[in-house]
Amino acid sequence: MTNKPRTLFLTGVTGTLGKEIVRNLLTQTQHKLYVLIRSKPNASHWDRARKILENYGLEKHLGDRVHVMAGDVTLPNLGFSAGDLDLLRKEVDDFYHIAALTALNGSKEDCFRINLGGAQEALKIATDFWQHGHLKRFVYFSTAFVAGSLQTYCSKEDELPLRPVHANFYEASKYEAEKKVREAMRQGLPCTIFRPSIVVGDSQTGEVSEFNVIYPFIRLFAHGILSKLPTRLDNSFNIVPIDFVIQASLAIAHQEDSIQKTFHLITKDPPTVAMLLELKAKEYPKMPPIQVLSPDDFKPGSLAVTEQFVFGMLKPYLGYLNDHLTFDATNTEKALAGTGISFPKTDYEFLKTLTQYAVGAGYLLPQ
Ligand SMILES: NC(=O)c1ccc[n+]([C@@H]2O[C@H](COP(=O)([O-])OP(=O)(O)OC[C@H]3O[C@@H](n4cnc5c(N)ncnc54)[C@H](OP(=O)(O)O)[C@@H]3O)[C@@H](O)[C@H]2O)c1
Repeated sequence: MTNKPRTLFLTGVTGTLGKEIVRNLLTQTQHKLYVLIRSKPNASHWDRARKILENYGLEKHLGDRVHVMAGDVTLPNLGFSAGDLDLLRKEVDDFYHIAALTALNGSKEDCFRINLGGAQEALKIATDFWQHGHLKRFVYFSTAFVAGSLQTYCSKEDELPLRPVHANFYEASKYEAEKKVREAMRQGLPCTIFRPSIVVGDSQTGEVSEFNVIYPFIRLFAHGILSKLPTRLDNSFNIVPIDFVIQASLAIAHQEDSIQKTFHLITKDPPTVAMLLELKAKEYPKMPPIQVLSPDDFKPGSLAVTEQFVFGMLKPYLGYLNDHLTFDATNTEKALAGTGISFPKTDYEFLKTLTQYAVGAGYLLPQ
């Protein structure tokens, strides 16, 4: 990673990826960071930043290399005053838009307001900084599932499908947001787009700060709340360890020739449903049984009433057990050549590490 100090502006730094990005930037570069954080009723933006940095033992950087600004990506100008914008315009080299509503069961209104509306507001400010300041790059965190997890398709990095088949409003809103980023890119804004698949715990330890996105889904099965799963044993699901996403994105975002390109941050060899069941049988034999039914034979009406309710909640997740969406990762492969960072291994042992961490953290019940 380059050592030449730059000034970065970042949104989404209280989230799973954002926190780790800040940690890496503080420990591996000399960059100065401006971070947008929402104030919450029980904690100011400043308190929230301090808590995160204290967890990493990095609080000495507050007010020195880390400057915290109260804001909200759904507000005009991100909630910043003209004075705030003047300061940022003069200083910011790179703008990282990471914030999003990542709830796969989020409402249409909330997903579009935060994910599309937030990206539009971020793009408006970034374009201003590029035209009237000295912004060099807009880094945008999209998702591999902009292509829609409900279709048979090989998703290419430098394009969006014309007819995506989305499983939920999260995917649909991120698709529309990426469209806006691509429009801005065509108009000249220097952009780098990252598309992680489903981000899970660390490749070595399984550690993750939030059990979000796919974890609630795993918990429903692990705890026997739903007994039948409409999928196929050879279906795979694309998960990617968080350390790979952080290391790869930061390495690529520091390369000159990654501007105007998109990068899939995925596993090339995703685990299968059969592997998940093998893990359950070998490591957690006392867990309630799960019956895998072909989606063609699965009749939600045959479930018990309580299970029907749970199944309704699970619907937005089902696309992620669909084997049919694959990802070309040519740009990522080329960009990582020579960096020492390789595509992650997501085999049986990795699944075991992830579940062991979730059990140890009290998220999944022990046997
Ligand atoms: N995690 C994944 O599996 C995954 C996979 C592919 C792509 N991505 C993308 O990667 C990015 C980061 O994901 P993540 O997993 O780190 O998300 P996360 O843990 O859910 O965190 C979301 C972040 O966005 C912030 N945010 C949400 N609404 C906001 C608003 N109105 N104004 C300001 N900030 C707001 C949150 O702030 P608060 O703390 O204030 O709520 C938090 O910092 C997202 O763009 C996501 O779409 C994630």
